[in-house]
Amino acid sequence: ETLESRTLDGLAKYIKEGRAKRIVVMTGAGISTSAGIPDFRSPDTGLYANLARLNLPYAEAVFDISFFRENPLPFYTLAHELYPGKYRPTVTHSFIRLLHDKGHLLKLFTQNIDCLEREAGVPGTKIIEAHGSFARQSCIECKASYPDEDMKQHIAAQTIPRCLRESCGGLVKPEIVFFGEQLPAEFFMSRGLPAQADLCIVLGTSLTVQPFASLPSMCSEGTPRLLINQEVVGGLGSRPDDVLLIGDCDTGVRRLADACGWRDELETLWAN
Ligand code: OAD
Repeated sequence: ETLESRTLDGLAKYIKEGRAKRIVVMTGAGISTSAGIPDFRSPDTGLYANLARLNLPYAEAVFDISFFRENPLPFYTLAHELYPGKYRPTVTHSFIRLLHDKGHLLKLFTQNIDCLEREAGVPGTKIIEAHGSFARQSCIECKASYPDEDMKQHIAAQTIPRCLRESCGGLVKPEIVFFGEQLPAEFFMSRGLPAQADLCIVLGTSLTVQPFASLPSMCSEGTPRLLINQEVVGGLGSRPDDVLLIGDCDTGVRRLADACGWRDELETLWAN
């Protein structure tokens, strides 16, 4: 059975009829831009377009493990700006929380390292932080963990933390997944969930970085997929039940909340 039309109202009807009980949400940096955190690839405002001052050989080097070994300073310059604590969740983050509160959220796969999903009240057990986060840090050589307080001091001072084990002294890095590193085991363990979903919602990501970018294609053919993003990405729109809301994601989730009759609840949740 397909949605009668590729419209938002068709999708809202599907949700209201109780047919979306296992929603898988996939997010990227675009859901946090309205919080004041730049995304990576937007042409003028994205981080990669604004890293000239760090004298990188290429923009993505700032998150490349081989480059970090040679020169960790650009990353620590950036980490100072991106470190969690000074940003507030957006209405899009609250929308994901609302899906959880209503019992519709199977899993959230996020590429973001800003921890705003947790801050919006999505429980940690529902979140797969596919690219890690600033929540923990460890030595890149001996893997020993490193204290939060010491890390905060280094981030604030833009200095480079080193392993506290005297025999080691290796570089310490937040457990963010860099290019050249494996994604966390929990990502691979949960990779089968999109196939069990009855609705997939993709928000604020260019779907350019693998293996995350393949997640939407792992949904079953008959599962509706909603994309809310500034641009069409990742082949979404290619299946009969895909719904595209092209534009700002805060506006998009508000439209979906309106169509589901959840708008007041959403705004209340976001305001508190
Ligand atoms: P990108 O910067 O690649 O993509 C952000 C997407 O969000 C783009 O398609 C934008 O058009 C869109 N966007 C931006 N603001 C928006 C808004 N307000 N409303 C709707 N859409 C908006 O960011 P990611 O896809 O998250 O990896 O990037 C993936 C990974 O590449 C990141 O996790 C990071 C990066 O290298 C690591 O650091 C390991």
